[in-house]
Amino acid sequence: MTGPYDSNRYDGLRSFLDECERLGEVQVIKGADWNLEIGAVTEATSEMIEEPPALLFDEIKDYPKGWRVLSIPTASRVRMNIVLGLPIDTPAMEIVRNTARRIRSTKPIPPREVADGPILQNVIKGSKVDVLKFPVLKSHKNDGGRYIGTGCSVINRDPETGYVNMGTYRMQVHKPDLLGLWMSPGQQGRQICERYWAQGKACPVVATFGGDPLIFLLSYTKFPFGVSELERVGGLLGRPLDVIKGPLTGLPIPAHCEVAIEGEIPPPSEEMHSEGPFGEWPGYYTVGTGANGDLQPVIRVKAIYHRDDPILLNMAPQWPGAPHHSVRFEGGMLWDQMEAAGVPGIAGVYLHHPMLVVVAIKQQYAGHAKQAGMACLVCSASARNGRWVIVVDEDIDPSNMKEVTWAMTTRVDPASDIQIVDGTWSTPLDPRMPPELSENGPHVNSRAIVYAVRPFGWRDKFPMVNRIDAEQRAAVIEKYSGVLPFKKK
Ligand SMILES: Cc1cc2nc3c(=O)[nH]c(=O)nc-3n(C[C@H](O)[C@H](O)[C@H](O)COP(=O)(O)O)c2cc1C
Repeated sequence: MTGPYDSNRYDGLRSFLDECERLGEVQVIKGADWNLEIGAVTEATSEMIEEPPALLFDEIKDYPKGWRVLSIPTASRVRMNIVLGLPIDTPAMEIVRNTARRIRSTKPIPPREVADGPILQNVIKGSKVDVLKFPVLKSHKNDGGRYIGTGCSVINRDPETGYVNMGTYRMQVHKPDLLGLWMSPGQQGRQICERYWAQGKACPVVATFGGDPLIFLLSYTKFPFGVSELERVGGLLGRPLDVIKGPLTGLPIPAHCEVAIEGEIPPPSEEMHSEGPFGEWPGYYTVGTGANGDLQPVIRVKAIYHRDDPILLNMAPQWPGAPHHSVRFEGGMLWDQMEAAGVPGIAGVYLHHPMLVVVAIKQQYAGHAKQAGMACLVCSASARNGRWVIVVDEDIDPSNMKEVTWAMTTRVDPASDIQIVDGTWSTPLDPRMPPELSENGPHVNSRAIVYAVRPFGWRDKFPMVNRIDAEQRAAVIEKYSGVLPFKKK
């Protein structure tokens, strides 16, 4: 497999949508309102429908036909597999396993600079700049405004090393040419801004709002500083990503993306703006992140580029029970990093939520489970934002919450099998962080590692399992699927 889409006809988000449409994975919805309705339809759909279709909103209230918004592009396993270039029936755990292997084995391919591309079909500069040209959403009723950046990728260059970073951060529309930016402490994109600010300079920036979901997936994934997300996109695509050199910033703009801006982020001492509140991924409006309309950095927008009939990507956070992703592919990153850190015998890694990681291991020696649990706290893919790490034996599928719950209820002695680690890297978005810390820092929390494994010292004496085995189950499903509504996995 060279890449997820036909590399000869690669057209970013549109290649992905073509493939989804061919497989009946897209539902077009006409006439919805950008003000709360699209947000509500998106959240209800992904909460109430298992394996929901991607939602392509067209003829949005107040906006011309063709100016669209795409919600939940990767909320089904089929679409996740399309993005990653896997056979469409690949099961969840296999997607994670495959991602881990490919991240390690795929050679990064640097982007290729091209002179032209669909993103230059429309160029808007100076006084004509107005980001509300696009059907920017207000997703939740207590949000402080309309947010164009949820499904965005923000690109800036480290002034010291020249490294080009890409990350996803929320962006509120303050004025037609002024956006708010909320970057959590310690984010690499923020560290880069701070280096410009320390010199009294504005940080040049490019942001895209709608493009290949593969670019978006890598944009929000935490790679170590200096590992180029754009090169990883090329590696996974199996061809260099075409980019245009931003005329104002010199930064790369993916040539096939839908909407992009160029601009600058001035030092906070020069300009900030009250930002938020914004309903965030833990499911709350958290103090310290705009709940009180705090001042945050801004982007001064100097130019807008967009394709004809552009498609904005809506990735506004939803209540955690209505996830955007059928599979959190960062689990593959974590698996890879844990192996690189020397943890042997990993049978699976699954992120059910940024705050809940499950790791399955084939225990090889006393202390092995603890080594695995502690590694989950330090690897960059899970070091930030966490709360719970559950370590299970290899007979438990970490992606199957029923099996994980069974291990937690039958293999854990709470007094001895739960370890608490304090002072770990968190975010003001953590709703359990006391208000004074959320507002002023330090932004740290504690983690619980639950060792839901058979105790190593007497694992051979642990009671035998009485569950039907995989072959028996498969045989029964095969024989009785005409009589009973078994769902094949
Ligand atoms: C939909 C979505 C929205 C996000 N919004 C923010 C945000 O507003 N602020 C933030 O600091 N991180 C946000 N993140 C997480 C970052 O994108 C992620 O931590 C990324 O690794 C940051 O990149 P960096 O380390 O290169 O700066 C978001 C992630 C997703 C999936």
